[in-house]
Amino acid sequence: MTFPDDFRWGSATAAHQVEGNNLASDFWAVEHVPDSGFAEPSGDACDHYRLYRQDIALLKELGFNSYRFSIEWARVEPEDGVFSRAAIAHYRDVLETCHEFGIAPMVTLHHFSSPRWLMRLGGWEYEKTPNRFAAYCRVVMSELGSLIPHAATINEANIATLTRQMIEDMTGGTGSPAPVGVEQAPVGVGPVPAGPAVDSGEPGADALGTTADKRNLFLFTWSETGMAVVKRSHTMARRAIKEVSPSTQVGLTLALQDYQPGPGGEKASDRRWAAAFDSFLPALDGDDFLGVQNYSRVLVGPDGALPHPEGAELTQMGHEFYPQALENVLRRAASAGVPMFVTENGIATEDDTRRVEFVRLALQGLERCLADGIDVRGYYHWSTFDNFEWMLGYKPTFGLIAVDRETQHRTVKDSARRLGEIARRNALR
Ligand code: BGC
Repeated sequence: MTFPDDFRWGSATAAHQVEGNNLASDFWAVEHVPDSGFAEPSGDACDHYRLYRQDIALLKELGFNSYRFSIEWARVEPEDGVFSRAAIAHYRDVLETCHEFGIAPMVTLHHFSSPRWLMRLGGWEYEKTPNRFAAYCRVVMSELGSLIPHAATINEANIATLTRQMIEDMTGGTGSPAPVGVEQAPVGVGPVPAGPAVDSGEPGADALGTTADKRNLFLFTWSETGMAVVKRSHTMARRAIKEVSPSTQVGLTLALQDYQPGPGGEKASDRRWAAAFDSFLPALDGDDFLGVQNYSRVLVGPDGALPHPEGAELTQMGHEFYPQALENVLRRAASAGVPMFVTENGIATEDDTRRVEFVRLALQGLERCLADGIDVRGYYHWSTFDNFEWMLGYKPTFGLIAVDRETQHRTVKDSARRLGEIARRNALR
């Protein structure tokens, strides 16, 4: 079977994880607090802000026809209401480079990091954050919209729901987060809750020039207010984008784990799906597409996540190697009734042969979905590069391409070549 003619094949990055020196962002500030809980600060990252042209050329050479990346709010609007012409010009160059190489850009407007000034106002719990976010999206899209066929407003709009579930699992429901290391990262959520300075303490707030009650970072916005702010940010942004760039297709992305009930876990498992997915359906109403992001499955018992099965192969994140999860999640998410893109799917491993196998099995599942008439329009592998994995620093390696961070030399892995060949053939075999 071949994939639909215009199927998008690509890989994904996020600005803060690859660009480097994202100085005006909240993450940069909290990374540099003593005892921040971060394994290391992001630093130059993959220096993609400077090297984007050679990187996009490389993606083309490998066989891809698309690239998902994010525009950084903190660069475009480094102070409240102050827009950087230079940053917008930079992203115009990136987008034009994509088009020059025949790479269709899929742009994310918010991928976890926010401008640090937003934390002076109350971050993702501040009632006017949706207006601020929509204003930023309006500026970006009125300048660059004609170059952007697909825009995702918010990456993993539901991430705080999942972070909360994970913390409940780790603390037996007491909800008090503790720093955890790679080995302990329990389930298929990307970032792991950080140490005290970031999740509750004053030092993070000081570094951001704010107070603890206002320092509401996107990843930890799990209150009712926070969730409402995130959802309204999406709907207001969509409206703003459609006004200035009507031809851009707009959606958001959700982190969707394959919840599988263990003995007696049916209700708890359904509750998790409802929190992560169903509760977002009203916000998705009117969207052109849904971005589905999946890494693994989670076995759920009556009281929360169950341990991995005996002998399960685990990734560097402590996730179970379970690429079949993608198919299950796509089938379930199809109920949203909008076209879907797989905007992230991947594995943190040192052993690239396991990545090759992961991609092969995940894509077989995707192919079965297509054969059953499920509308999936693209597959973006996470990630293009070994990059800054948030609190875990550079230790987990998700990339199709390795990066020597001393020299910024890129080394293409076998998995990149294999996926590139699939993209070129538009078929698995
Ligand atoms: C995020 C990425 C992250 C990845 C792997 C996703 O939750 O969107 O930023 O690096 O998972 O953990």
